[in-house]
Parts: sequence; C-alpha cells; structure tokens
Amino acid sequence: MDRLIINGGRKLTGTVEISGAKNAALPIMAASILAEGDHLLHNVPRLRDIMTMGRLLANLGAGFHLDENGAILNCSRISNYEAPYDLVSTMRASVLILGPLVARLGRAKVSLPGGCAIGARPINLHLMGLKKMGASIKLEAGYVLARAKRLRGAAIYFDIPTVTGTENIMMAAVLAEGRTVIENAAKEPEVLDLANALISMGAKIKGAGDSTIEIDGVTSLRPLDYSIIPDRIETGTFMTIAGITAGDITIKKCRPDHLDALIDKLRAAGIRFRNVKDGIRVIGPERLNAANTKTMPYPGFPTDMQAQFMAMMCVAQGTSVISEKIFENRFMHVAELRRMGADITIEGGTATVRGIERLKGAPLMATDLRASASLIVAALAAEGRTTISRIYHLDRGYEKIEDKLGRLGADIRREKE
Ligand code: EPU
Repeated sequence: MDRLIINGGRKLTGTVEISGAKNAALPIMAASILAEGDHLLHNVPRLRDIMTMGRLLANLGAGFHLDENGAILNCSRISNYEAPYDLVSTMRASVLILGPLVARLGRAKVSLPGGCAIGARPINLHLMGLKKMGASIKLEAGYVLARAKRLRGAAIYFDIPTVTGTENIMMAAVLAEGRTVIENAAKEPEVLDLANALISMGAKIKGAGDSTIEIDGVTSLRPLDYSIIPDRIETGTFMTIAGITAGDITIKKCRPDHLDALIDKLRAAGIRFRNVKDGIRVIGPERLNAANTKTMPYPGFPTDMQAQFMAMMCVAQGTSVISEKIFENRFMHVAELRRMGADITIEGGTATVRGIERLKGAPLMATDLRASASLIVAALAAEGRTTISRIYHLDRGYEKIEDKLGRLGADIRREKE
C-alpha cells in the first residue's frame, strides 16, 4: 500500500489542468451497454474507479481499452449479465449497469452494494423505478435479480433526488416502450452529461439538468463518440488548496459554472477569483474568514466538497458551522483533522469548527475518497510533516494528484508503506 508524505506550509502557485469527471465517465461507460459497435470516449480520467468499471464491463463480455487518448468500449457481444460482489464491494457505482443491462438484455444480476464509509446508501429508489417500468425485481443471496422482456415507459417520482438512481432510470428508459417521466430528478452536471451522451447515441431525452426529465424510448441506439465534462470536484479541491495555502493557482480546462455555490462560499471566506481563458485564477488570502455552509443536492453546495471546505475552515478566523444533509456519516475526516490540532465538535449532522492559527503535521489515515482529499488540503497548510496512509481511496478519484501538486510547488511524495 502507498502513503503520501507532505511537508506543509508552502504557498502553491502556478497552473493546473483538470481531468475528466469520474462521476460522469462512470455512467457514460455503463451507457455503452446500450448499443453495439465501438464506443469512443474522450477526456476519461485514469483512475481506479474507471478501471473497475472497465473490469465490470469486460466481465460481461465487453472489450475495454483505456490510454491517454481515451477509452474504447465494445459491448456488441455481451455474454453475461452479472455484477459480482467482489467488484460492487470495491465500487458502489457498479450499480449503474443495472438499468442498461435490463434495457438491452432483459435481465441483470447485480450485487447489493451494502453500506459504506459515508452512510447506508440504499438503492431502493433505483429498484422502485425499474419496477414501475415493468421489471420483476427479486432479492436473493445479496443480489438483485431484475427481468423484463421490454421495459415500459412510466411516471416515476423520487422522494430524494438520487444521482445514480436518476442515471440508472434514464438509461433504462431510452430503450423502453413509450414515455418515461422522472419527477424530482437529480440535476447534477454529471446527470446532464450522461443525458447529452445518450442524446448523441440517438436517445430522445428532454429536461435533463432540471427536476423533470422526459424520455421517449427508441428501438436502437448508435455507439458513442463523446468527450466527458471536466471534474467539478477536482476543480473545487484545487480551489480550497489555493485558499488554504494563500496560493495563486490558475485552474485550466474546468467549468467554474458548475461550482457557483462553492465559489460563493469561498468568496465569503476571502478567496478571490479572476476569469481567465479556458479557466479560472484562484487567489487565497493571508488568513481565511470563517463561513457557514450546508450541503444540498445540485445546485446547492456539493457534499463531495464538504470535507475539503472543513479542512480550510480549521484555520479560518472565527467559527464556522457546517451541516451535512446528504449522507448520514460523512464526518470521518473530523477525527483525523483533530489529530492535527483542529478544534471541531459534532452534533448530529452539524460540525462546529473553531478556527485556529495553524494545523500541525501528524500521521493520518485516509477513510474515504473526499475525506482523503481534505487531509491533503489540511496537510499542505500545516506546520511540519504529515503522512497519509491508505491513499488507495484517493486513487479512486484524483488523477496524478501528487504530480499536479508537485508542479504547483508542494513538497509531496508517494512511498510504499
Ligand atoms: N438514496 C436513497 N435511496 C436510493 C438512492 C439514494 O435513500 O435508492 C439516498 C442516499 O442514501 C443519500 C441521498 O439519497 O442520502 C443521495 O444519494 P445519491 O443517490 O444521489 O448518491 P449516489 O448516486 O450514490 C453520487 C456520487 C457521489 C456523490 C452523491 C451525491 C457517483 C458515482 N457518486 O452518489 O460521489 O456524493 O451522488 O452528490 O456519481 C464521490 O465521488 O466521492 C461520491 C461519493
């Protein structure tokens, strides 16, 4: 296993390029199940989760190749319809093949994901949607078995706007008979990117990016030739790094318009922004101000940025209140930040962070993807040396992070534990 060693306290300056969005690439890879032929995907980040989705598709009988030019997928011959436990347990997003498999093959067997480090994360809404579309759903020995000769369009209302649930139903509906209407759909940019990818395959989808999505089923689709949007969470993470290190970072190949809620809060914390060609320049203040925030579904403040924002607030002037409203257990980073001297108390889903002058380097353990990112944010500004173990979590979602940070002037290296 690898660990990261960071000597903090440097101002990071320079230019960084953002990779393609993991959470858009994963459903779009799953969408390749829906059509025969060679699918070409551009701007695919080279990450562990992407390789897991590739293995999952290869396990179904698909061809998968990923290099610096992108991914090639071919699902013409699918001989298997199962997502086994050993893959689903390493990546919950494996559940994204459920909708496309039922749509294309009329059957799917997908391991139930179980809880994870950030919450229980059930998939009841995905299953409710498929049932409404006429699928028979059985739960057997930890697996979901779904079957339908041909899915039928249906009116589906989500109690909670679920991102992968909306994506699964959208992919199921594009080949269904008739019209599907999803109400209270998730509005995240990754949902819109999947819809745009499906439309480029010939799907009929209206309203994606809004809370009502209408899909008229078609009988066949063509292969993809599509470029994935930039990763808004990687972008946001570099913004917090500029903020906490009093740095000056120009972030290129990104979409700041996907981060309005975050940028608003970062401005309140004293960070300045300048629009530049193909990106944004982010300038951190000598000392951050405290700012309160609450995570919400898009366009609200993203839960995937909560941990990194909290790391910043640990050294802000004043007290901040941060509420987590999406996942019930997403404060795993708090215990680690406290080991660096942070003054944080938690009550229910709310953390109160009393800013201190300076964090101190310490040996730390990464617990999930975004928690790991927050420890890097903290370590870059801390006094002295921090080691972060179990960074395989980080490799699920951040492409070459130590190279990107090194080029901005960070003292960071990876070594074997
Ligand atoms: N929920 C249910 N029932 C369901 C589905 C969801 O109760 O059937 C609940 C969840 O437990 C949660 C809320 O609805 O409380 C929202 O969860 P959602 O389904 O939107 O999350 P997700 O689709 O499992 C995606 C991202 C996450 C990101 C969340 C929220 C992917 C592959 N994953 O998860 O990304 O945090 O949306 O924006 O798109 C990450 O990248 O680190 C990550 C965790």
